[in-house]
Amino acid sequence: TYVVTENCIGCKYTDCVEVCPVDCFYEGENTLVIHPDECIDCGVCEPECPADAIRPDTEPGMEQWVEFNRKFSEQWPVIVTKKDPLPEAEERDGEEGKMEKYFS
Ligand code: SF4
Ligand code: F3S
Repeated sequence: TYVVTENCIGCKYTDCVEVCPVDCFYEGENTLVIHPDECIDCGVCEPECPADAIRPDTEPGMEQWVEFNRKFSEQWPVIVTKKDPLPEAEERDGEEGKMEKYFS
């Protein structure tokens, strides 16, 4: 499965949702997540993200993101249409510590 990782937080460009063939992106206030049981591992969303936030879960260090994506995909509503990025997306892109800042 693919997972949305930290750099989506505070940016939420949403280009990813337009290309997903199974509509498995879910939307929170500050980030999106992928439902790991619905993702068919096609990989088409990965290059679409301007913030480079989508990764295969086979990369090292992805465990916390698999857990994060699973948890919130079961709580947040599905998103299938692109919308405007968050107002501070450009500023937040690449910023460190966004997980702590937004989710603690
Ligand atoms: Fe959707 Fe494919 Fe991305 Fe999985 S890898 S979230 S199925 S576009
Ligand atoms: Fe987030 Fe990238 Fe999609 S910033 S909303 S994963 S296009």
